[in-house]
Amino acid sequence: MTDIRIAQFSDTHFLEADAEPEGGFAYETSQAFDATAAHLVSASTDGSFSPDLVVATGDIADHGRSAQYRIAADRFAGLASDLGVAMNVTPGNHDRDAELSAALGRPNVTMSRVVEIGTWCFLFVDSNAGVMRVDDDGRRVDPPSYDDRLHRNGSLGTAETAWVREMCELTTADHVFVWLHHPPHLPSGLSADETYAGEWRTLLEDENSATTKIRGLGGGHTHMPTDYRFAERPVFVCPALKNNFSVEAATMLPPGYRTYAFGDDGSISSEVVLVDDERWPRRPLGRAVMSLLKGELTYAEFDEIVARKRAGA
Ligand SMILES: [Fe+2]
Repeated sequence: MTDIRIAQFSDTHFLEADAEPEGGFAYETSQAFDATAAHLVSASTDGSFSPDLVVATGDIADHGRSAQYRIAADRFAGLASDLGVAMNVTPGNHDRDAELSAALGRPNVTMSRVVEIGTWCFLFVDSNAGVMRVDDDGRRVDPPSYDDRLHRNGSLGTAETAWVREMCELTTADHVFVWLHHPPHLPSGLSADETYAGEWRTLLEDENSATTKIRGLGGGHTHMPTDYRFAERPVFVCPALKNNFSVEAATMLPPGYRTYAFGDDGSISSEVVLVDDERWPRRPLGRAVMSLLKGELTYAEFDEIVARKRAGA
């Protein structure tokens, strides 16, 4: 059998026209999506990369608002239709569960938790699951304050952890790949949450469990595309559409997506595709932003520096 090909988008952060982005700065995300989607459609048309599935790994909306999901739904449905494949979505820390579910679904835009293709089982893990609550009616709901979700760097909780284990046991596929928003144990200090990394380490390092079938993970969240190894697996981090950074080059990066090829033998290869355009130049990053991205400054400290600069300007 030929390789399974999947395209990944992440951190699309759709915004209503003229809405203020969370954190104060964003590319025009609908334009960024249109440019990256057109790039992928052209790769599919010329045969250089024809995906079997497209995934979007969270932070679909910038503030978790219904109007933002409706913008996302129209664009995702358009891309899925142009490619003739489905687009499957999993949430991030900027999302809100009820709003996402109510507004996003279309015949070709889905929120499946398990997708099997050939010898592979793709699990769509909710890396926000540990911050969700169960209300008096037994419904799984967002925490009372949006900030409690927004400012988290990943939490599986016991139910999601048990679900991952059970799906690995029940699937008859040879290989499992995990799609999720928060990559565990990032090499940079930013977005590090060692409790969350520990939850994944427990799953991935259990040699007597079916989780040994997990061959790798694909996420987003950091807006810094990279790849690294964790618990002897590759972890791939997707470019974002809101704003995108390279610490190595100390510049902004254009928006982009990732391509993946999954082999019958359990092999995975993935490439970052960035779509350069004068609307998002590779501008040098200032010292404070670099310190933030390296994890040397907290968001609160960074905000104070920005406020001081603005006051002095
Ligand atoms: Fe994001």
